[in-house]
Amino acid sequence: TVLVLDFGSQTSHLILRRLRSLNVYAEMLPCTTKLAELDWKPVGIVLSGGPSSVYDDGAPGVDPAIFDLGIPILGICYGCQLLAWLINDKNVARGEAREYGETDLNIHKVGSANADRLFEGFDDTLHVFMSHFDKLMHLPEGFVTIASTKNTAYAGIAHESKPIFGIQLHPEISHTNRGTDILANFAIKICGARPNWEMGNFTEREIIRIRKLVGENAQVIGAVSGGVDSTVAARLMKEAIGDRFHAILVDTGLMRLNECQQVKETLQQHLGINLTIVDGSELFFGRLAGVTEPERKRKIIGETFIDLFEKEAIRIEEEAKETARAGKVEWFLQGTLYADLIESLSFKGPSATIKSHHNVGGLPARMMNGQAQLKLIEPLRELFKDEVRAFGRQLGIHEELVMRHPFPGPGIAIRILGEVTRENVELVRQADHIFISMIREAGIYDQMSQAYAALDTNRAVGVMGDSRVYGMIIILRAVTSVDFMSAEPFEFPFQLLKNICRRIVNEVDGITRVVYDCTSKPPGTIELE
Ligand code: XMP
Repeated sequence: TVLVLDFGSQTSHLILRRLRSLNVYAEMLPCTTKLAELDWKPVGIVLSGGPSSVYDDGAPGVDPAIFDLGIPILGICYGCQLLAWLINDKNVARGEAREYGETDLNIHKVGSANADRLFEGFDDTLHVFMSHFDKLMHLPEGFVTIASTKNTAYAGIAHESKPIFGIQLHPEISHTNRGTDILANFAIKICGARPNWEMGNFTEREIIRIRKLVGENAQVIGAVSGGVDSTVAARLMKEAIGDRFHAILVDTGLMRLNECQQVKETLQQHLGINLTIVDGSELFFGRLAGVTEPERKRKIIGETFIDLFEKEAIRIEEEAKETARAGKVEWFLQGTLYADLIESLSFKGPSATIKSHHNVGGLPARMMNGQAQLKLIEPLRELFKDEVRAFGRQLGIHEELVMRHPFPGPGIAIRILGEVTRENVELVRQADHIFISMIREAGIYDQMSQAYAALDTNRAVGVMGDSRVYGMIIILRAVTSVDFMSAEPFEFPFQLLKNICRRIVNEVDGITRVVYDCTSKPPGTIELE
């Protein structure tokens, strides 16, 4: 395993992705990690880029033990400057010009068996992506220059005999040509990492790890939503510990048409998972009455969800005591993915909250510290979305579920501009069902990342038959996105869009208008609230 230490760059996680695309397994931890605390030994360490300047007060450093391990180190951008700073104090300063964007890199072969390895197999020049202001003022002792650009004399440095390398360019960004080859040279040739990582290893390894962690007797509970992440996590637990895993589905009353029933069928019948459904709709609608403010809705839903979930967890625990079939409920399963963790993993701490996504924050804290006092188990935390999908297929989860668009925890509540009532939810359910069915029939479901119908409770005038009607408005949204941090509106064939609108107005009572949202993210977000 290669260890990537994160200094907060926006692209740190791409280093992992590139390494894994080489079938090299890598893990990322915050730069504050103490190596002595790891229970595994990395074959090499990558120091990522980051927004700080090494000469600033409070600039992030790194455990000096990285130099004692004798394993290869590659510093990227900030990581490179930090290496130089640590090896040769005060060796970094602000450059005269910011070097940002694509540029040509000159590669120097210096005739050193060690230093030349990073760019082995490369021509003399390479088109790369740079983004830095600071630069090295001179070479640290014992180092040679292996690359330079017009503005940066020390764009690539390497120790003459030790496996320590630094580069200013970002090999993880797709604008850098052959960036993956640079990382391959480092990880495979220099670190000697074996390129044998594949999803199959992950399944086996994870099942063994879960069995060891949970032991012979303890029980595990986890919330499921019908989405791919929680389903894959649940399926994996089932594989590892059978019926000692209990999945709980809280029916908020805010799910889509027939969704609860479908989740039940998939999890119980198809995947054989031990599932309890808690009907909470009464409580949710009661607490949401009169509430229109988005964050307030999220908070109420998050809290209500946890209240119900905790109650159920305690009931399962009591039942276990009575029947003595299995041990105590000790663990709480969370299907958190790497992408959900990026912000909380980074040493900077969570960045500004644009929307509070309750499924990441509140539930585990209360399960761990509240009455239930459970320990957290997160088997998917090292995976990216496409990896979870591949994993899901391997675990026998059917394609439709594996490719399902994400659905937010607060459900339809944040797709109603206005009050969340049973009647309003029903309108959204019907419109959404028509929208998604027509998208599926047109064979374009997989071309978009997320699509849904929402309700604007303001009223618009229409004519139906001979009379004037005054109804609510359905807003359709469909986007394409790579990581859900940014998104583009999906470009529907206009005739299809018109057909969808016509069916919704005709079939959903109380709707007089249908509009299509063409806003990109940013500035819009994917959900309306
Ligand atoms: P936004 O609206 O922030 O959405 O552009 C990005 C992605 O996150 C989902 N989303 C949520 N998921 N709880 C969730 O579990 C939430 O409160 C929440 N809000 C947004 C959204 O569906 C999209 O996939």
